[in-house]
Amino acid sequence: MITFETSYLGLKLASPFVVSSIPLSRHVSNLVAMQEAGAGAVVLPTYFAGTNAAAEQGFEQYLQHINAATAAVDIPIIASLNAKSAEQWTTFASRLAETDISALELNIYHLPTEPDADAQTVEAAYVATTRNVASIVDVPIAIKLHPYFTALGNIAAQLADAGARGLVLFNRFYEPNFNLAQRVVVPNLQLSDSMALSLRLRWMGLLYGRVNVDWGISGGIHSGSDAVKALLAGADVAMVASILLHKGIPYLSTLKQEMSHWMETEGYFSVEEIQGRIASLFRDVSSSLHRANYDIEWLPELPSAH
Ligand SMILES: Cc1cc2nc3c(=O)[nH]c(=O)nc-3n(C[C@H](O)[C@H](O)[C@H](O)COP(=O)(O)O)c2cc1C
Repeated sequence: MITFETSYLGLKLASPFVVSSIPLSRHVSNLVAMQEAGAGAVVLPTYFAGTNAAAEQGFEQYLQHINAATAAVDIPIIASLNAKSAEQWTTFASRLAETDISALELNIYHLPTEPDADAQTVEAAYVATTRNVASIVDVPIAIKLHPYFTALGNIAAQLADAGARGLVLFNRFYEPNFNLAQRVVVPNLQLSDSMALSLRLRWMGLLYGRVNVDWGISGGIHSGSDAVKALLAGADVAMVASILLHKGIPYLSTLKQEMSHWMETEGYFSVEEIQGRIASLFRDVSSSLHRANYDIEWLPELPSAH
């Protein structure tokens, strides 16, 4: 009998599949469907804190949604917050922590573009936000990271030290495209595919066991095998977004079946047994793997010029 139990942010989850922040979770009926299909927990869509009266009303609605969500399902509900100032972070976080949420994910979506914004100052702001929020809320917090830090391992360690209980690899930044005919910048929100997973696996493997936090992988998990890879690399939870938007919420049970099938075939009986098993493969810095991408022999046959 296979057990899918895992623990994340100090929470016991019945399944390592966690629904990451997506608009589908705005509806309580969808949260119920996610629980039924085998989600271990759900991260709600981010509340982006504003400053005007409309924003305050939006926050009230967000709180109401949390109350409805936590009443409707048994699985842990994780709120997600983005704020602009130190005061906003702590004010909104403490109000969220008064609800029945099980944890809080900080979506510190900050892209510094000013040439005089130096990396140390930017990182210090991430750490300060984490420290401030962790010091005033009594729910565990996770930070959703992006991959563009100069020294990712170091910022991960600093965030753990500041009170982050978990780190999520990775958020995606807005990457607009340009419409050549109309000469305008256009949104380019595309669902991911499994290709996005490689970057996460690599960093997961490199950081596993070196920073004392729980880990979520978000990005590119589209099959049971993708989820298995995420766990093997060291993640505690495999987060899914695009696949559910593409195939629908019930597809979660297919992902779970695929994982179950793999575990049965390979003789594993618990998620715990597979977590981190291949992390060390990413460690060998001298490995030829690091150079393999540039080795012409690895390329498929190139088309001739004529
Ligand atoms: C339509 C859409 C809306 C999203 N909204 C949020 C959000 O509000 N907050 C957040 O942290 N991530 C948000 N994300 C990012 C997802 O939670 C997830 O991290 C990302 O899509 C990578 O996972 P995937 O490859 O499974 O899609 C959104 C993604 C999509 C596609």
